[in-house]
Amino acid sequence: MSDIKTVGVLGSGLMGSGIAQVAAAAGYETVVRDVTPAILEKAKAGIDKSLAKFVEKGKLKAEDKDATLKRLRFTTAVADLKGCDIVVEAVTEDLAVKNALWTELDGLCGPRTIFASNTSSLTIAAMTGATKRPDRFVGLHFFNPVPLMGLVEVVRTVTTSPETFQRAFAFGKSLGKEALTAKDNSGFIVNLLLVPYLLDAIRALEHGVASTPDIDKAMQLGCGYPMGPLTLLDFVGLDTTYKIAEIMFAEYKEQKYAPPPLLKRMVLAGMHGKKTGKGFYDYATNPPTVSNLGL
Ligand code: NAI
Repeated sequence: MSDIKTVGVLGSGLMGSGIAQVAAAAGYETVVRDVTPAILEKAKAGIDKSLAKFVEKGKLKAEDKDATLKRLRFTTAVADLKGCDIVVEAVTEDLAVKNALWTELDGLCGPRTIFASNTSSLTIAAMTGATKRPDRFVGLHFFNPVPLMGLVEVVRTVTTSPETFQRAFAFGKSLGKEALTAKDNSGFIVNLLLVPYLLDAIRALEHGVASTPDIDKAMQLGCGYPMGPLTLLDFVGLDTTYKIAEIMFAEYKEQKYAPPPLLKRMVLAGMHGKKTGKGFYDYATNPPTVSNLGL
């Protein structure tokens, strides 16, 4: 039985809201921090909607939805995470932003609090130095959408203590996920393999190999993937993917991680995918239409 009772979540975007939802659903008192009340309101509404879908499908009792929502607290104050047994960080993929938060929290949290980052591409080692607890620091890398995806990668750094790793691993499993151990290399297991594939799909579009829907359909029908790569990119977020590619390219200096110019242009244009309403597809209509990228 895990000794973790209270969970802190930093960031309430795509990932933070999902992580908070599964933590609260698993019975943990959960405190979620983001920078503005408006962002937190949006996260709260999203969690409510997601839980309602589970109730609709008969996968969750209405009273369990209410109990889950009661276990969630939303705040803009970092200090409200002070009493948490584990803090899972899911803020923007930017090392300086993450490390400023870790340093602040390190001074607030008790000695047994575990720090866990959901980073997609940074190494955990790049964050441990911002604290005085490198032995109580791990990676907990979830997948989008968190309530539906069954995996969490649990990342051990060169300094993670065996006890911390065990507690974090047990915590990941207690959320109903399959927990896999990964070494602290940029991209861990999944993104090491997935990111070059996604970037290659953009390169294929850029080079005129095929149209957006045909690239997606090809990988669905030809490889049995549940979703094509360009649709998946819209779900992941093009801004986040761009940051991930830059970080992985800087780490490995390999062309396969280099962000394609088209990705950069789309990010600069505010086309961040589904979350901003437009990416490779335009979500203003249902079903979405293909975006005109001027190719
Ligand atoms: P997002 O853009 O949806 O959300 C990021 C959130 O962090 C925003 O709500 C933003 O207001 C908040 N934030 C920024 N600075 C903050 C601060 N100082 N304190 C608290 N909140 C702050 O991004 P997303 O997709 O949720 O990604 C978050 C992290 O999860 C990144 O490290 C990303 O690499 C990782 N990740 C993303 C996945 C994806 O499919 N999008 C999958 C797995 C990991």
